[in-house]
Amino acid sequence: MALLRVEDLQIYFPIRGGILNRKIDDVRAVDGVSFEIEQGETYGLVGESGSGKTTTGKAVMGLNNITGGDIYFEDNHLNPGKGKKVDVRKDVQMIFQDPYSSLNPRKRVIDIIAEPIRNYEKLTKKQELRRVQELLEQVGLTPESIYKYPHEFSGGQRQRIGVARAIALKPKLIIADEPVSALDVSVQAQVLNFMQQIQKDLNLTFLFISHDLGVIRHMCDKIGIMYQGRFVEEGLRDEIFTDPQHIYTKRLVAAIPDIDPRRRQEHQQYREQVKEEYQNSFNDYFNEDGLAHSLKSITDTHRVALPERG
Ligand SMILES: Nc1ncnc2c1ncn2[C@@H]1O[C@H](COP(=O)(O)OP(=O)(O)OP(=O)(O)O)[C@@H](O)[C@H]1O
Ligand SMILES: [Mg+2]
Repeated sequence: MALLRVEDLQIYFPIRGGILNRKIDDVRAVDGVSFEIEQGETYGLVGESGSGKTTTGKAVMGLNNITGGDIYFEDNHLNPGKGKKVDVRKDVQMIFQDPYSSLNPRKRVIDIIAEPIRNYEKLTKKQELRRVQELLEQVGLTPESIYKYPHEFSGGQRQRIGVARAIALKPKLIIADEPVSALDVSVQAQVLNFMQQIQKDLNLTFLFISHDLGVIRHMCDKIGIMYQGRFVEEGLRDEIFTDPQHIYTKRLVAAIPDIDPRRRQEHQQYREQVKEEYQNSFNDYFNEDGLAHSLKSITDTHRVALPERG
């Protein structure tokens, strides 16, 4: 059983206009996306700005109205048309891109981290203090941090506070939306490694959103590549990085700076080859509306949006 199963998800936002402010069209932010995440896995969503990554993540959190499709968490249907909705707010937590704007600047660390706990558990002040201190220790911050405010920390430390808050209720799934994009490159790797450690320690599952394929390669077991609300390709990390099939994926992979000096020449050749294919046949990879074709399986785990041949 997959921990999370998303089937044919569609999320359209109305575009309004005219003096009556009537709906004139839709933005198809997510347009038929399906994927599964196994317990303990890190699933990466990658794609350029506006491709629908955050909208997908928010839908799993129940923060977006779903136009079509189904989301299942541990086989519980999260968006049944009728009947009681299953509440997953405790089991699914989100970490945001900018730890500064997502942490209330007027609250002390203790209140920021204890807030979700207070919603679900009745602890004495003393128990709560102990719990928050344990969480701080888990994310590598000193217990004295509890009475400080967010601005008294560095960006990397603030993201650790965000993680402490996210893990306070022992969730099963964490949706990390560009968790290191706002950080200096020098601290990105540190925060990523720390997130991997936390994942191992707590047996967490991640939906990891990033536009940075280097970060995705470092973190993810399985990857879905989005383009204008659709998947163009999905596969295991090795399938995506050593055998990309869709021109859009190839372009992303070719653009990763390859630091291994022995492979520099090879990578440069690949880059030239992809550039040529991109110029000559980009359109073949999309339908007449410029959207991705539907996905076809090329292995048990690798799916690509290629046109029908013949
Ligand atoms: N609440 C909303 N109302 C209207 N349109 C929206 C809303 N939220 C998102 N969109 C639109 O949906 C599309 C997908 O947005 P989304 O934020 O999911 O992209 P993203 O892949 O996360 O991009 P980024 O990398 O910039 O964060 C965009 O065209 C965006 O403008
Ligand atoms: Mg986003």
